[in-house]
Amino acid sequence: MSKKLDVVLGLQWGDEGKGKIVDVLAARYPAVARFQGGPNAGHSLQFDGHSFVVRSIPSGIFREGSTNIIGSGVVLDPVTFREECEHLKAVGIDPQPKLVISKKAHLILPTHRLLDAAQEAAAGKGKIGSTLKGIGPTYTDKVGRHGLRVGDILAPDFAARFARLKDRHLQQIADLHFECDPDEGEAQWMEALEYLKTFRLVDCEYFVNRFLEEQPILAEGAQGSMLDVDFGSYPFVTSSSTTVGGVCTGLGVAPGRIGRVWGIFKAYCTRVGSGPFPTELFDETGEEIRRVGHEFGAVTGRPRRCGWLDLVALKYTVMLDGVTDLIMMKADCLDGFDTIRVCTAYKVDGQVTDQVPFDIAAPIEPVYTDFPGWKTDLSGIRAEKDLPKAFTDYVKFMEDYLGVPVRIISLGPDREATIER
Ligand code: IMO
Ligand code: MG
Repeated sequence: MSKKLDVVLGLQWGDEGKGKIVDVLAARYPAVARFQGGPNAGHSLQFDGHSFVVRSIPSGIFREGSTNIIGSGVVLDPVTFREECEHLKAVGIDPQPKLVISKKAHLILPTHRLLDAAQEAAAGKGKIGSTLKGIGPTYTDKVGRHGLRVGDILAPDFAARFARLKDRHLQQIADLHFECDPDEGEAQWMEALEYLKTFRLVDCEYFVNRFLEEQPILAEGAQGSMLDVDFGSYPFVTSSSTTVGGVCTGLGVAPGRIGRVWGIFKAYCTRVGSGPFPTELFDETGEEIRRVGHEFGAVTGRPRRCGWLDLVALKYTVMLDGVTDLIMMKADCLDGFDTIRVCTAYKVDGQVTDQVPFDIAAPIEPVYTDFPGWKTDLSGIRAEKDLPKAFTDYVKFMEDYLGVPVRIISLGPDREATIER
């Protein structure tokens, strides 16, 4: 009997707390796989008084005996990858025996990063607010059929192919009138390639399907569904499929293999970078959420934009992803508020709707439902029966609205601060 591939996806604009939850769930799955994204992700984990941030490596790496897969849909920067491995080694975790990397994952070249910076600089006010890790240009080369893949590093003509792609990038950078050192980071990158060669490079699709014959896998999404290249707030999105379809194309598994889809969301919303955000708060409440929730980027350190929970957007991503189980994060950050607001509809051109419109950048007025605050410190609560009624009423409302049960409630960054229902 073959096993299922379960999935954890961020349902908002990223930074929902995927690292912590994958780390908690990883105790039940012998393998964790990343299927898209790259070092634009910053998945934070905390346990035994230590904090970690992983970028390209699956968050299962901290579990004894786990297998961790960097899938074909991922874009890999060898330099960041080596740095991550070195951080892990410094805390006594050797990633080498626990990690396999798809030969079909695309490589982020140093000039992809330069091109990312050049394109953002040229876009002026229209910039995406990219993490400048070279993500967009690398995926552009992938679909443009110019990219270099991890498996290519073993080919005898790799140096020539690298040089050709680099030249192409330098031409594009020159066309954008962007000043830079064309060789920036190259020596270090080449060294990191040698390091990468010491890892187990696999045909991910065979590896994953064979693994599933015996044991289940958890697929770990990066970013969030509202940043999906097809269904997110385009063009203010990332360049990969962050929704459930990306799991199939990124790992080489058929849809029927997918089991549960865990959808993870914060009890409020955040967004980094540019782009529409209907419930964004520009007032003291927004500041307060940012302060209490420590909403500053794990990768870039940028302050995150904060706002109330947007159930219209959440219902949309629950639909896109076929979410079977919800995971609610960081409600403890709302402990101090007298009133807690939830957006349950949008007013667009005077019309009330519960759908995300095509042009999410057009003026949208959120329609709110207010809940009395629970005014209780939730962070120490470890059992469902101890949760205050005002809080469980609020959760019930969400479940009814979304039509999916909230199975896990996380009330703090530590592994232990997790209630399962
Ligand atoms: P995790 O996995 C939050 C955002 C960037 C920018 C847009 C495009 O930690 O949730 P990119 O560098 O991908 O071209 O940037 O997407 N973004 C994220 N926001 N969390 C992330 O990852 C993100 N990865 C990209 O801020 O607006
Ligand atoms: Mg992040």
